[in-house]
Amino acid sequence: MYRVGVFGATGQVGAVIRSILLERSFPVSQIRFFASSRSAGTKLDFNGEDVLVEDAHDADFSGLDLSIFSAGASASKILARKVAEGGSYVIDNSPAWRMDPEVPLVVPEVNGSLLADTSSKIIANPNCTTMVAVLPLQTLHKLYGLKRVVASTYQAVSGAGRSGVDELQSQLATRSSELSVLTFDGRAVEFPSHHVFPATIGANVIPLAGSFVDHDTTEELKFVQESQKILGLRDLKVFATCVRVPVFTGHSISITAEFENTPDHDEAIEALGSTSGVRYDPVPTPLQCAGRDEVLVGRVRVDSSAFNSLAMFVVGDNLRKGAALNAVQIAETLIALGRV
Ligand SMILES: NC(=O)c1ccc[n+]([C@@H]2O[C@H](COP(=O)([O-])OP(=O)(O)OC[C@H]3O[C@@H](n4cnc5c(N)ncnc54)[C@H](OP(=O)(O)O)[C@@H]3O)[C@@H](O)[C@H]2O)c1
Repeated sequence: MYRVGVFGATGQVGAVIRSILLERSFPVSQIRFFASSRSAGTKLDFNGEDVLVEDAHDADFSGLDLSIFSAGASASKILARKVAEGGSYVIDNSPAWRMDPEVPLVVPEVNGSLLADTSSKIIANPNCTTMVAVLPLQTLHKLYGLKRVVASTYQAVSGAGRSGVDELQSQLATRSSELSVLTFDGRAVEFPSHHVFPATIGANVIPLAGSFVDHDTTEELKFVQESQKILGLRDLKVFATCVRVPVFTGHSISITAEFENTPDHDEAIEALGSTSGVRYDPVPTPLQCAGRDEVLVGRVRVDSSAFNSLAMFVVGDNLRKGAALNAVQIAETLIALGRV
């Protein structure tokens, strides 16, 4: 039994972690919840008991065995080392440590073996979009040898935190009639105001997720760099266009991949369908995958416009496999390997 800390326990990912720990009967002897000073002092239910939310910045961390962080990159930068130095493994959902060469970036089904001999007490959980892509990509890489990946994402608003969900909800609630009129006859209306996203997300799509870094965006660079690191293919050519869509939960990705060897349509579908954590679905959608553990893969086609090329559409719940579930699976792997 383990003493577990959930940092960012009041947030969206924190809420899913709390329920997944219970769903999977995680061996918890003591649970502690941490968040910012805004929610310190409130209580959250865990298995029928009220647990006090502690201020992450002035709590005593001693005694924790496993800590799962979903409190944003700045909090992770400040707190992760302190908690790790107190003896706990830190599994971090934020971008703070992912590209640190000393820190393993882990999807257990793909590179969980890294946990066997890492000396780092901080383990990074990948970005929610990359996570969805690497499971099927790893399977296809083993079969045909990956050379190049081109991806276009359709990312849900919950990927931008609770405030992203609130923004879409309020735009749909207050201005849906005006937005639908605009859709049908192009009549000019004033768009609902936006604060979280760089344009109105209700009834729209925005080809800017994250912020610009030259001509790319932070989300696009994460997809490129994290895929290379997780797959262990530092020279893999990856190109991504990340787009925010008015979907609450479930990131979708249209992927075209080029291989060393010629891919076979039926063989690829069979291999994808029997990959751990993946389910084949002819027409996968985000609504269908919301609340599910598996990544759904469908629309598999040989791309005859290019050499040795295969296309597919991949969908995953960004709050579950994209964040909370993968973090809990990392904790389970550490336990199975006797590291905790
Ligand atoms: N959403 C996703 O799909 C997704 C996927 C993968 C990774 N992540 C990562 O997971 C983290 C949380 O995402 P989310 O969607 O759950 O966000 P969220 O719903 O906005 O929740 C943020 C959580 O972090 C806490 N927090 C914020 N600032 C803090 C600080 N300075 N010190 C301590 N706690 C702080 C908040 O506490 P209060 O209640 O006190 O404000 C809240 O519990 C982010 O790092 C994000 O990059 C998210």
